[in-house]
Amino acid sequence: MTQDQLKRATAGAAIHYIAPKLEPRSIIGVGTGSTANFFIDLLAELKGRFDGAVASSEASAQRLRAHGIPVYDLNSVDDIQVYVDGADETNAALQLIKGGGAALTREKIVAACAGEFVCIADESKWVPVLGRFPLPVEVIPMARSLVGREIVKLGGDPVYREGVTTDNGNVILDVHNLCITDPPQLERAINNLTGVVTNGIFAQRPADLLLLGTSSGVKTITAK
Ligand code: A5P
Repeated sequence: MTQDQLKRATAGAAIHYIAPKLEPRSIIGVGTGSTANFFIDLLAELKGRFDGAVASSEASAQRLRAHGIPVYDLNSVDDIQVYVDGADETNAALQLIKGGGAALTREKIVAACAGEFVCIADESKWVPVLGRFPLPVEVIPMARSLVGREIVKLGGDPVYREGVTTDNGNVILDVHNLCITDPPQLERAINNLTGVVTNGIFAQRPADLLLLGTSSGVKTITAK
């Protein structure tokens, strides 16, 4: 199977997982990226069986609207029943690296509001230790060099993602050469740097469930 076929299969598994739980008042949190796009396209088939969605990016909001799915501002909804999103890496504790698509801050906000966080990923994202994928960090533009120097002190090699501005008007530093053996600790340490908006470690709020697309089928994994 190609990687896209695996992504589509895991998105389909997420649809099967959430469909029986939907109610007319349900709000679904929807993530960002190519796997999330497969999910959005399949979610259109459930239109009318839930109220609407909150999106973690402008791109996902546009895609949802194009399917006729109502998109709400997070401030106008009481709660999000379930949040479905992809990841750049996951470990067995379902701690993630996210932000390859630069949407990490809104993704983290939506995940924080969600009753359940379902991660959909193909098997290439499964790692024993987080950090092979460069860790995205969203930074206030004027603090780019300051944050970069502080990240070097933490042992990482930050690279400015040129030509990218986040939906929040900020920039991204991709931090290479990290071996993240204590994800919650590093998540807190980087978030503490002045000028950092968010970093892409999702460990303080990991996923609750992982639907992992593999060549032998979609595996359902809960945190170890
Ligand atoms: C977006 O900022 C990311 O967190 C995505 O969820 C992540 O990059 C996964 O993307 P793909 O589904 O395209 O691999």
